[in-house]
Amino acid sequence: MARITLRQLLDHAAEHGYGVPAFNINNMEQGIAVLEAARSMDAPVILQASRGARSYAGDVMLAKMIEALETAHPQIPICVHQDHGNDEATCMTAIQHGFTSVMMDGSLLADAKTPAPFDYNVAVTRRVVDMAHWVGASVEGELGVLGSLETGRGEAEDGHGAEGTLSRGQLLTDPDQAVEFVQATGVDALAIAMGTSHGAYKFAREPDGEILAMDVVEAIHARLPHIHLVMHGSSSVPEELQEIFNANGGRMPRTWGVPVAEIVRGIRHGVRKVNIDTDCRLAMAAAMRRVAHRDPAEFDPRKFLKPAMEAMRDLCRDRFEQFGAAGNASRIKVLPMAEMARRYRSGMLDPAEAGARAA
Ligand code: G3H
Ligand code: 13P
Ligand code: ZN
Repeated sequence: MARITLRQLLDHAAEHGYGVPAFNINNMEQGIAVLEAARSMDAPVILQASRGARSYAGDVMLAKMIEALETAHPQIPICVHQDHGNDEATCMTAIQHGFTSVMMDGSLLADAKTPAPFDYNVAVTRRVVDMAHWVGASVEGELGVLGSLETGRGEAEDGHGAEGTLSRGQLLTDPDQAVEFVQATGVDALAIAMGTSHGAYKFAREPDGEILAMDVVEAIHARLPHIHLVMHGSSSVPEELQEIFNANGGRMPRTWGVPVAEIVRGIRHGVRKVNIDTDCRLAMAAAMRRVAHRDPAEFDPRKFLKPAMEAMRDLCRDRFEQFGAAGNASRIKVLPMAEMARRYRSGMLDPAEAGARAA
């Protein structure tokens, strides 16, 4: 069994210069797809569950399912991460259910809609860091609000996202504030805002530097070379998947995601965790639509879900390869959470040291 903390995994990724895709899962098919891809690529895994995933599947079902995936794939280090925790209770109950890492998203208030003041973000994130590190779990914080630089809007379709219109200042993480935030909170990883948003409708055209501000990633990495950066909203929304979806009765207006080449550029500048949910959803939905369209008489769920799983597996494989995570699972010697807790207590895991020290 190899359940790894985010901190240990991202320290390894930093040391060896790769990025790790963090795939959202809600059910068995998505879990199997990620692990089959990881096994075939010898890649370490981040499985993340949103609050929506936890209420969809239920905490017990999710926890047992992840245990089963670990048993089936003992050679793959698996980090189990809470995506967009909105308060202390969400983060702590995740750890109670075996998560090795939590995101405390204090960029929004606990309602997951209202942009939060900086001081609130620092205080709530610091509280979660203090509690999580006692048991060796890792913490990702977020500074800056995710949303579109084209429209000034956050995304609301996932039930988590800023409401109202946001200024360019709110939508781009300020490098000086990032330094202050990391020092004040002690987070293990920092999610930053640079124009990406959740969901399929990120950009109305092929993104350039005006609407996908990768220079912000570079500026923050220059100021904080040892902190692990996280890119949210990093689905690429591939055109070929949009075409399969639309050719089989779907209606998705033409849209653009984050090009994989831009993510790879981010990985060269300190991005270590890359969040992907929409691409997996789209791959599965397009595959299911194709079955339904080709054989309207089909009603066996397995006939829909098997090709859906395969489509998601292929997408995950591609991201493991492109982000350089492939080939690294077998190079990691997983440390137990108790050992991570001991290291936090003894001051060995100061964020300033992240990535500088091989675990
Ligand atoms: O945080 C965004 C992810 O895409 C999760 O979405 O809340 O619908 O599970 P969800
Ligand atoms: P996408 O919607 O781009 O897949 O982003 C997912 C995400 O950031 C989850 O936290
Ligand atoms: Zn996100």
